[in-house]
Amino acid sequence: MASIPNEFIESLLDKVDIYDVVSARVQLKKTGKDYSGLCPFHTENTPSFTVSQQKQFYHCFGCGKNGSAIGFLMEYEGLEFIDAVKDLAQSAGMEVPVKAGNHLPKSSNNLYAVTEKATRIFAHQLKSAAHVIDYLKNRGISGETALTFQLGYALDEWNGLANRFEVNEQDLLKRTGLTTSNERNQLYDKFRNRLMFPIHDRRGRVIAFGGRAIEAEQKPKYLNSPETELFHKSNELYGLHLAKKHSQEPYILVVEGYMDVIALHEYDIKNAVATLGTATSAQHIQTLFKSWDRIVFCFDGDNAGIQAAEKALNTALPLYLDRKIIDFLFLPDKEDPDSYVSKYGADAFRKQVNDAVAFSDFFLQILNKNININSLDGKAQLFDKAQPYLKQLPKGNFKQIMAKKIAEISGIDQQAPRNYEQPATPNKQYGENPLRKLISLLLNSPYLCSKMPQELNLRILSFKGVEIIDKIVEIFNANPHIRSAAMLEHFRDSDYSKYLGHLMSMHDHLDEQQKKLEFEDLVHYLLKMTSQQEINRLRNKQLQQGLSNEEKQKLVQLLHQKHQ
Ligand code: CTP
Ligand code: MN
Repeated sequence: MASIPNEFIESLLDKVDIYDVVSARVQLKKTGKDYSGLCPFHTENTPSFTVSQQKQFYHCFGCGKNGSAIGFLMEYEGLEFIDAVKDLAQSAGMEVPVKAGNHLPKSSNNLYAVTEKATRIFAHQLKSAAHVIDYLKNRGISGETALTFQLGYALDEWNGLANRFEVNEQDLLKRTGLTTSNERNQLYDKFRNRLMFPIHDRRGRVIAFGGRAIEAEQKPKYLNSPETELFHKSNELYGLHLAKKHSQEPYILVVEGYMDVIALHEYDIKNAVATLGTATSAQHIQTLFKSWDRIVFCFDGDNAGIQAAEKALNTALPLYLDRKIIDFLFLPDKEDPDSYVSKYGADAFRKQVNDAVAFSDFFLQILNKNININSLDGKAQLFDKAQPYLKQLPKGNFKQIMAKKIAEISGIDQQAPRNYEQPATPNKQYGENPLRKLISLLLNSPYLCSKMPQELNLRILSFKGVEIIDKIVEIFNANPHIRSAAMLEHFRDSDYSKYLGHLMSMHDHLDEQQKKLEFEDLVHYLLKMTSQQEINRLRNKQLQQGLSNEEKQKLVQLLHQKHQ
C-alpha cells in the first residue's frame, strides 16, 4: 500500500517535531523530560497521555494509543496515511515524492480534480436551469445556501457531462462513478435531469454526488454515486466539512437526508450532518465524537424511525464513553427536520433538540418493550435482556449507573460483575483488564494458544476482547507454526490492529520462560474469576427464579472446585 519511499517518511519525521503537531491540538505540560496532557482519544480526568520529543512518539497509558506524528494525525484528524503524510510534508515545506513504478491508489488526486470539475459544471448548469431554480425556491432554499452546498444541475442528456471532459479524462470520470457504460461499452452519464448535491469528505473535497429527481414521476427519487476509490458510504457524512466549522456548538445533529441538512442550514442551524441512505455506523459516531461531545440523532416519529434509532443505539453502546452524550430526537409523525423547521422555525426546532430523549431513557424504553415490569417474571426477563447491552457499554460511570438502575428495577442485584470491575483492592498484578494481558501473551507467543484450558469460558466476563482471543486461537489452530507478526497481519484491516500492535509490545521484554509462567498464572486467575462469576450468577438465579437440576449440579460442582 505505502507508495511513499521509506526514506522520505524517515526524513519527514526527522524534520517535523511531534511536540508541535500534538500541542497544536492538545494542551501539553512539561513533566520531566516528556510532555503530558489529557488524552484526546479517550475520556479521562488525569493525564495519561504523553509525548516524548526524544523518541518522537506519543503514547497514552490509559487507552494504549501510540505512534508517530503521522499516526497521531491519522488518528486525530481521521486521515488516511497518505493524507497525513501530505499534511505534515506541507507544514514542513517538503514535497512528497512518488516512487517510480509504484501503484499509488491510482493517484486519487486526479480523481478529485475530476469531481471538482464536475461540481463546477453542474453548478454552472444550474444557473440556466429555470425549472430547477424554481424547485429550490419552492423548497425555501436561497441562492446563498445553494452556493454554500455547491448545488448543481445535471442536464437531461446522455452525455451532458461526459462531453465536457477530454478523451483522456474519460477513464477518470468513470472511476468517480459519474459515468457508467452500457453492454456495448458506451459511456453515458449516471445523473441526468437531477438536482445535484456534491458530497464532500471531512476536508471539503468532493468525493461523490447525490442527485434528486425533479419531476414527480422520475424514479428513483434519489440516486447516489456508487462506492468508488474516493467514496465509502458508511464512512462519510453529508455536510461534515461545513458542520466542522461549527464544532464549538455543543452538539451535532445527525439527520437522514440531504435536504434536512440544507434546510436546517437555511435556518441558521449549521451543526447538522446526514448519513447517506445508510444506517449510522460506528465509524460515523467515532468521527463525530472527535469534534463534539454530544450527538443528537434525529429520527421520524414513526415505526421506521424508532427502529433506526434502536439500531443507532446498538451501534453506539460500545462507544458510549462518560462525558459523551447521545440523545434521540423523535419528530412528530410525518415530519422530517426539513419540513419541521420550515413549518415551525428554528426556535421550535431547537426546543425539540432540548427535549430530546436521553440515551439512558431510550435504552430503558427498549428494555421495557414487551415486558410487564410489574410481574416477577417480567423483572427477571428485563434483567436478562439488559445483560448483553450492559456488557457492551465501556467501563465507567454510565455503565455503573445503568447497571444499578437495572438492578433496582428488576430487584436483582448482580454484585459479581461490579465487584469484578472495581475490585475492593485494585488488582495491580493484572492491571485493568486481564484479557488485555492474555491477548498480549498470546500474540507474543502464539504457541501458548495450545495451552488454553478447554474449560476456560471467557465469555462469562464482561470484557471487550473475548472475540479477539477466540480469533487468535482460531488462527493458531489453522496454523500452529504461525509467528507473531503473521498473526498480527490477520488483524490489519480490523478495528483492533493498532491496539494489538501496542498490546504485543507490552511483553516484548520477557523471555519465553517468563512469558510461560505469566501465562500460567493468568490462566489460573481467569479460571478462578470465571468460576466465581458463574457461581454468582447461579446463586442469583437460585434466589430469583430457582435452578434446574442441571444448574444445581453445576453449582455444586463449581463450589466444590472452589474449595479444593
Ligand atoms: N435516499 C437514497 N435513495 C432513495 C431515497 C432516499 O439514497 N431512493 C437517501 C437520501 O440520502 C435521502 C435520504 O435517504 O436524502 C432520506 O430520504 P427521504 O426521507 O426519502 O427523503 P427526504 O430527505 O425527505 O428528501 P426530500 O425532502 O427531498 O423528499
Ligand atoms: Mn424531506
